[in-house]
Amino acid sequence: MAYISVKVRTKDLKPGQILAEDVRDTHGRVLVFQGAVLTPNLIVGLRIREYIDSVKIFIPVEEAPKGLVKPEQAGISIPGGIQPKLGRFFRNARKMHEIKPETIKELSEDVKPIIEEIFETRPAIMDSLQLISSHDDHTHDHSWMVMLLSLSILRMAELKNVFHPGKQDKVDIALGALLHDVGKTKVPLEILNKPGKLDPDEWKIMKKHPDYGYAMVRSTENLMPVAKAIVAHHHRFIDGTGYSPEGLPVLEKLPTLVRIVTIADIYEAIVSDRPYHVAALPYHAIKIIDQGAGTKFDERFIGCLREMVAPFPTGSFLFFRKGVIGKVEAVDALEKELPFIEIIASLTKETEDLVGREFRLGESLNDMPKEEDIVLGAYSPVNLATKIKSAMGIGSGSDVLFEPGTEFALTSLPEWERIMKEHFDFLFESESEERVR
Ligand SMILES: [Fe+2]
Ligand SMILES: [Fe+2]
Repeated sequence: MAYISVKVRTKDLKPGQILAEDVRDTHGRVLVFQGAVLTPNLIVGLRIREYIDSVKIFIPVEEAPKGLVKPEQAGISIPGGIQPKLGRFFRNARKMHEIKPETIKELSEDVKPIIEEIFETRPAIMDSLQLISSHDDHTHDHSWMVMLLSLSILRMAELKNVFHPGKQDKVDIALGALLHDVGKTKVPLEILNKPGKLDPDEWKIMKKHPDYGYAMVRSTENLMPVAKAIVAHHHRFIDGTGYSPEGLPVLEKLPTLVRIVTIADIYEAIVSDRPYHVAALPYHAIKIIDQGAGTKFDERFIGCLREMVAPFPTGSFLFFRKGVIGKVEAVDALEKELPFIEIIASLTKETEDLVGREFRLGESLNDMPKEEDIVLGAYSPVNLATKIKSAMGIGSGSDVLFEPGTEFALTSLPEWERIMKEHFDFLFESESEERVR
């Protein structure tokens, strides 16, 4: 469906409408980004700011007043043609020894409209970033996502006056990000897709992928040195730790574009499903990345990433200490780190009274969970259950989830009862065995 943007007075806004333009405060700081879906809270937030009289929202072309805007001006989607092409490219890459200059030329043309979208029209890109994740073709999907994310961080850096990219920087980071893991096509699939942990020998091979990738792009014309540096050094951190191809000197100063891709790469790896782990919420990904702020990762770009992502996506599930399970019901784009949560289930006797209550994270209500009580998060109950199971399997992990001597009891809202029973049955296994006896 094609959309156009129209100006609407804040008093006439309705929930569900999508912002077509960033809304800024009197200092020019972005309050709500283009692409945000308006919620009742968000609308109130806009109305109480008297200096915001009207905002631009997207409406379907069909609903637009006639003669307002030409439909061809209205597209907000990212061109999709490049993705199948990229799929083919990665499938063929297993047979390639080097990447041809024609391929680079073609890819450079392909990424141009994407760059334009992100830098000039900037759609709700983070929404699309959530969508793609696949097990078998994950190098291709991962590369695609890392490219979108790297470009988005670069754009945010520009908006925040952190870094001013030139035209060529945008193309270089896009190509570098697309190709950063191309060396993985030389790593045996059994290692790439191994569900468990890699053994030391397998790790040795895995760590060679920047080496393999650099060998493939080293002499490719049309590919700028910084894009090649992304392929070679994307596992190198700003403090010099990490790894790059053997025989290449450790760079004294990691180039800015490499720093950005490094962050995009690890973020994408944490928030997506992989053969060896279940996707984490953006909240946890940012927490993990934050641990390396200033040592592994450039703080400036962590800041950019933080501004872009919603830590607790609507519809995701949180597991709090003492066995409380909450579902994120709504997120106010002005304070996205404080989501509205409904408690849908409790796994312990101690907290069963909380089931059915709604609260906002950060409200200091005595008996409700706090941010520091968040232990795990996931996009679905089944993934949450998988995570709880594996956390309980690693010894001390279970103490964090449940104090010793905890009395388990499953209580859930009627609509969640069946799902909860199905997925959290493992907690009660011993009990059910006894019942059979
Ligand atoms: Fe990599
Ligand atoms: Fe990667």
